[in-house]
Amino acid sequence: MDILILIIAFILLLVAISLISGLWHGAPYMPTSKSAIRSMLKLAKTKADDVVLDLGSGDGRVLVMAVEEFGARGFGVEITWFYYFWSRIKIALKGLSKQIIIRHEDMYMSDISEASVVILFLLQDTNQKLKDKLIHELKPGTRIVSHYFTFDNWEPKAKDEKYYTYLYIVPER
Ligand SMILES: C[S@@+](CC[C@H](N)C(=O)[O-])C[C@H]1O[C@@H](n2cnc3c(N)ncnc32)[C@H](O)[C@@H]1O
Repeated sequence: MDILILIIAFILLLVAISLISGLWHGAPYMPTSKSAIRSMLKLAKTKADDVVLDLGSGDGRVLVMAVEEFGARGFGVEITWFYYFWSRIKIALKGLSKQIIIRHEDMYMSDISEASVVILFLLQDTNQKLKDKLIHELKPGTRIVSHYFTFDNWEPKAKDEKYYTYLYIVPER
């Protein structure tokens, strides 16, 4: 009996560590509200021919809305196993597995070149660390929308103050 309790406690500990592990990789899990997601996708003028990339895609809610309400395709990168599996299950149950791909990857190592819209809800320092990758690996003209956090020394092209969403455009090289 004691061993069973120890095993259950160990499993619960692993799950708890998994849930907060995003914190060490760039940002803890915190879901964006539907209104803020809609604000970001509208700020980016998301259309049916867009590939929307959510860096740190959590439970996949940003990509589900990008597909269901804007007709775009979705691509997510998530480092936490729990959210990676949970988002894949959710997307499969909604019948959206053909329109949305989620990869279990570290966003710093991901190939992001196919995206035309990039969504971020991370941390101020993490945005800063990603800035060079975004500017050099995304196509000029790609729209980047960040929720709550901005980029140092980069003026947003537009913002929605109500939902703290900020639009940036990748400049010509
Ligand atoms: C604040 S949550 C945002 C979730 C989702 N994008 C949303 O808006 O609802 C940040 C997510 O980024 C993930 N994350 C943190 N660092 C990461 C990294 N280096 N690579 C991939 N995902 C990461 C976390 O696990 C977490 O799910």
